[in-house]
Amino acid sequence: MSIARRRLAAALGALVLLLLPGPATADLSPEERTRILRHGPWPPPWRPDGGNRLSGDPAAAALGRALFFEPRLSADGAVSCATCHRPELAWTDGRTRSVGLAPMDRNAPSLLDARGRRWLGWDGASDSLWAASLRPILEPGEMGGTPGRVAALLREDEHLSALHRALPARAAPEDETGLAVDAAKALAAFQETLVSRRTRFDRLRDGLAAGRPDAAAGYPADALRGLRLFVGRGNCSLCHAGAAFSHGEFEDVGVGYFLERGRVDPGRIGGIDRLRASPFTRLGRWNDGGDARPTRHLVARHRDFGLFRVPSLRGVAATAPYMHDGRIPTLEAVVRHYSEIDEERLHADGSRLVRPLRLSAGEQADLVAFLRTLTPE
Ligand code: HEC
Ligand code: HEC
Repeated sequence: MSIARRRLAAALGALVLLLLPGPATADLSPEERTRILRHGPWPPPWRPDGGNRLSGDPAAAALGRALFFEPRLSADGAVSCATCHRPELAWTDGRTRSVGLAPMDRNAPSLLDARGRRWLGWDGASDSLWAASLRPILEPGEMGGTPGRVAALLREDEHLSALHRALPARAAPEDETGLAVDAAKALAAFQETLVSRRTRFDRLRDGLAAGRPDAAAGYPADALRGLRLFVGRGNCSLCHAGAAFSHGEFEDVGVGYFLERGRVDPGRIGGIDRLRASPFTRLGRWNDGGDARPTRHLVARHRDFGLFRVPSLRGVAATAPYMHDGRIPTLEAVVRHYSEIDEERLHADGSRLVRPLRLSAGEQADLVAFLRTLTPE
């Protein structure tokens, strides 16, 4: 071959590499396709929360944003929501367990996509985003605030009171608790605007939905193998279901529930007790409407002990460490946990949904590569 022809061949080879459509999706079975399609589309449709008269209101979101970064809500004037939900850390704090006025027992979840959740908190102690936003203000070890302190800020601070006056008025007179609830509803309206961006996975998924032969263009081959494990032998989709990669309910995957000094985190069963004891639920007078049936029909069962809410996996690469108490530091270690899960530690007496998967090192790496494609680049 002449030098010119060799150069031409090399150039053609490079061109072919550039145009390659990524890993082939042709060998996905119809069943695999169906399962993959169920994880979208993203973002999902959303309707304002009927329980929050300020839901979806831009003026309320503006007040909520100001309150989110406001340390004067707390007893010592030093802790704001953003102390533990830092925007630059995907609305987490990067810590194992959060520290407010006192150390907490749990890891701070991201607030992205919180607007779609029926139960909030790892134990589901809140049944609305607004109630989950009031709880940290009033919790003694978290921000240690009071309705009186919140009301004073809304009445007396020039900037905050102007933002508050711009909101639709309530029928009832504005007592301190009512003002604190308004603050929480505005905080919820702000958090409703925090929706995670589309990812490489979404491009693949929508390409498959549209029947495009190049659906996997630019999608890593190892991630595609990991995705097949996720919806297949790994059984991950069973709980990490749907577009949000969570069915939103509570499960046990063998993460310990012992805290130090012989204390345990009771998980869901404690969450149901806390929900029942709170005046700030969908059944209470501060709620504005919407569907209260899930709360009304809640029954605590013995098997709820030690269950935690299935977390969404969107954006998961940005929210280490993992699990309700942050005890697992990396995604690699989470996948190893599922691979080697200790069945002795699964205590729920209901149906057993997880088994040690005994994945090879390559399969574990593939699953991690897939999980990384659920986070925007
Ligand atoms: C001291 C740290 C800390 C502060 C301050 C804090 N949070 Fe949190 N947040 C957490 C932790 C930890 C959890 C998990 C709590 C649980 O499971 O019981 C959480 C959970 C939440 C949740 C539930 C999310 C979900 O998907 O379940 C929402 C919503 C939330 N916080 C909003 C706020 C708002 C709004 C503020 C300010 C008013 C705030 N947080 C202040 C640490 C904090
Ligand atoms: C039986 C339901 C169930 C199955 C099956 C399941 N998970 Fe989970 N997953 C959970 C629950 C519940 C948690 C939180 C546990 C806790 O905090 O104690 C969790 C936590 C996680 C986390 C940590 C997320 C975070 O933000 O802390 C990742 C990552 C994860 N699972 C990935 C997977 C993968 C990969 C598979 C398949 C190999 C899988 N899960 C299978 C229920 C499940």
